[in-house]
Amino acid sequence: MKGRIIGISGPTVTVDIPDLKLYDRVLLGGERLQGEVVRLDTGRAMVQVYEDTRGLALGEPAEGLGFPLSAKLGPGLLSGIFDGLQRPLDRMAAAHGPFILPGKHLPPLNLDEGWDFTPLKKSGESVAEGEAIGTFREGSHEHPVHSSAAGELTTIVSGKVKLEEPVAVNAENIKLYGHGEWPIRLPRPYRKKLAPTVPLITGQRVIDFLFPLAKGGTAILPGGFGTGKTILEQAIAKYADIDVVVYVGCGERGNEMAEMLEEFGELADPWTGRRLMDRTVMVANTSNMPVAAREASIYTAVTIAEYYRDMGCHVLLLADSISRWAEALREISSAMEEMPGEEGYPTYLASRLATFFSRAGVVETMSGEIGSLSIILSVSPPGGDLTEPATQACLRTSGAFLMLDTDLAHRRHFPAINWSQSFSLYDADMGAYFEKETSPNWNRHRQRCRNILQRAEKLREVAAIVGAEGMQDSDQLILEAAERIRLEFLCQNSYSDDAFSTPELTAEKIGEIIGWTDETESKPAAGEPLESIIRRPKT
Ligand SMILES: Nc1ncnc2c1ncn2[C@@H]1O[C@H](COP(=O)(O)OP(=O)(O)OP(=O)(O)O)[C@@H](O)[C@H]1O
Ligand SMILES: [Mg+2]
Repeated sequence: MKGRIIGISGPTVTVDIPDLKLYDRVLLGGERLQGEVVRLDTGRAMVQVYEDTRGLALGEPAEGLGFPLSAKLGPGLLSGIFDGLQRPLDRMAAAHGPFILPGKHLPPLNLDEGWDFTPLKKSGESVAEGEAIGTFREGSHEHPVHSSAAGELTTIVSGKVKLEEPVAVNAENIKLYGHGEWPIRLPRPYRKKLAPTVPLITGQRVIDFLFPLAKGGTAILPGGFGTGKTILEQAIAKYADIDVVVYVGCGERGNEMAEMLEEFGELADPWTGRRLMDRTVMVANTSNMPVAAREASIYTAVTIAEYYRDMGCHVLLLADSISRWAEALREISSAMEEMPGEEGYPTYLASRLATFFSRAGVVETMSGEIGSLSIILSVSPPGGDLTEPATQACLRTSGAFLMLDTDLAHRRHFPAINWSQSFSLYDADMGAYFEKETSPNWNRHRQRCRNILQRAEKLREVAAIVGAEGMQDSDQLILEAAERIRLEFLCQNSYSDDAFSTPELTAEKIGEIIGWTDETESKPAAGEPLESIIRRPKT
């Protein structure tokens, strides 16, 4: 399917290739820039180009590939660093230098690399289309290899095989390979979706205790400039009790991503002791990379995440930040001259986000295993205004809302999660889990902790009017308890040994503070002076 370029408008190009389908991949110009069909009219199609369109001219050739933008799936994705089009950035740098040049591409999986293959079938056996014929081992993961055609196998290998070599050949001489593709905009299939029942432990006390997340659940972290979104997402990527983490740097600073990569190479996973990078896949589309590929990056990432979910893994997808993705969507929509919705965002912003969130969940996979995909997105509303469209669209569909507060960040209270405005819909279910598995006091202490924080908030308003001296001793004790909760429990410095707290440690810490509060409650009434009751341990 060949044609010519007949129009160019920023990142969108019009071509006259016949018989294109929506979302087909297209290669443009002499440099064969990559794009995707986003609108079809009679005799022409609009293509969203994922690379810099500078230098592209009218009349240059264009070619439709006849299939949509797809992610390559197979062993070797873990510890990989890809861009939004799944180009392997480390191998690209080795081959073409540190900058991604237009039209340059390498296969996402290193086809030269060998992996251990264990056959499940013998030569001479017949297999159905889609049937598993063997597995590749990648670390602790078993990648099933499914037959792409029905028929009798004439040969099947065993042991180390390079990805470029077939693992089996059938009687019709069809070669079967150990890697596959999946269109990134199409959710991968599963047997059924189940309700999330197990917490996603983040190691952050304020989250695990007050606003718990669930494996297979969704959460957003909205917050203004410098409120700690990136640091919190990175902390969750490091400490979450999860099998695979897919981290998307979406339009944020490249240097932060580089620092993270460096750090992850050295650190160990606190749950297994293995290298953190061995369970991590990075998708980088930072602010210095072409904007249109950013729109695709979250779909590439979620497809990789679903692929590991289908192996029965618990997978976590983190993206920083979804606002930059929404801005990319707005830019493309405006180049296509679509009718703008609120604040210039396309009218389908909310439905696109909802569809994306719906790819999270606990599922029974096609092979009958249980896997989960959790999604956590940071949101950077301009000026910290949470009423703007991207935040509102996320808010409607996410299961937990962890609001990062500018005032708390200014006071250097980190993670700056506002405890009176955040919420988690997984609260009751996860509370029941922790009560059973971690501490019988979990829910009682949580209720007490919330009460203290709420009462302290009201009292602080009163204190602002009458002054602290005008308050009763019992009220001052509540304020003191709330301050201890804030300083000793909710604050967690990411750069200290306290960066990660197990549920047991979380239960123990809050238990101490609640214990102290219960013990001192009756003391003012018994005539004990406040100064002797409040002797705060040094932090
Ligand atoms: N948990 C934490 N522990 C210690 N310091 C923190 C923590 N979280 C944030 N900070 C401090 O706040 C600064 C800003 O954090 P971060 O870069 O994560 O904010 P951000 O919300 O991502 O900002 P931006 O809107 O610019 O992307 C960090 O450089 C660090 O000094
Ligand atoms: Mg940031």
